Amino acid sequence: MRAKRIWAAVLVFCISTQLLCGCGRNMSSGKKIHVGVTYYNQGDTFLNELNNCFQEQLSELESADLHITVTILDADGSQRTQDDQVKELIDAGCNVLCVNLVDRTDPSKIISLARENDIPIIFFNREPVPEDMMQWDKLYYIGADAKQSGVMQGELVSDAIQRNEQIDRNKDGKIQYVVLEGEAGHQDAIIRTESAVDTLKNDGIEIEKLGYGIANWNRAQAQNRMMQMIGQYQRDIELVLANNDDMALGAMDAYKKLDFTETDIPIIFGIDGTDVGLEAVLDGKMAGTVYNDKEGQAEAMARLCVALVSKKGMEDMEFVNEKYIFLPYEKVTSENVTDFLE
Ligand code: GAL
Ligand code: CA
Repeated sequence: MRAKRIWAAVLVFCISTQLLCGCGRNMSSGKKIHVGVTYYNQGDTFLNELNNCFQEQLSELESADLHITVTILDADGSQRTQDDQVKELIDAGCNVLCVNLVDRTDPSKIISLARENDIPIIFFNREPVPEDMMQWDKLYYIGADAKQSGVMQGELVSDAIQRNEQIDRNKDGKIQYVVLEGEAGHQDAIIRTESAVDTLKNDGIEIEKLGYGIANWNRAQAQNRMMQMIGQYQRDIELVLANNDDMALGAMDAYKKLDFTETDIPIIFGIDGTDVGLEAVLDGKMAGTVYNDKEGQAEAMARLCVALVSKKGMEDMEFVNEKYIFLPYEKVTSENVTDFLE
């Protein structure tokens, strides 16, 4: 805990220094934006990449009369820690908060703290339920539509199956599959799985679910779950649907650890298009992924932070229902992966 605090403090210092360097002399006369960010878990690969983009976007928005500092904290999987962190961020003088909730059904404490201090909140990536979003008019959400990512993953799989009859290894006319799921209760877990499977069914593909494992978006946990499922279903598995790239990579790790040759490994699909995920598509190890637009999300977050504090530019934000901004997903295969690697 202590080490983390120090790490966070150093980070604040670095970012403010970096941002300070990028701006002009008359700073004291300009607007000051202090962004307070808390992540559910900074060990998360996708969120780490999103965080890097967010910092870049903020520094690009800096100018002679706009001075931006950022404090970033890691709640390390605890909602109580995150509630305390929000208080800490408010006490430190933050005038806008970006919250990646630990428990997306439990933002009430955070909302009331922010409301008492009149500090707007941009929730991101982990979507609060609509009732909570209605608690106050200064609550926003930036993310992506979970259903769209599942449908796109389903379309990628459907395409691959129709193009390659070898995927149905036992030639029974059905595709035996397993699912690696994100966290129970996360909008991107249940909805991605359901819509990917529905898309396959609607395309007339016969599928048979052998099993599933919950691996909390995590590569090492996915490797474990996958080792168990391979132990149970052996070579019957013809397709692995993973709710994100890190878990897809964990599935590959499991096959590698068990000494499967490349031709013996079933097709594996992820979602996110993280750096390692895109590399795996490029190498042909992952059949496809769905790009989760971290650049677009980070840009929208940065612009909204500035608009909320400076009270300028709100009319340029592309809201749905006045509070939500959703960035579209994109399909990635070996054919277009280089466009995303640039
Ligand atoms: C999802 C993403 C996962 C993980 C999760 C955390 O959108 O696909 O990789 O980062 O968010 O909330
Ligand atoms: Ca089969």
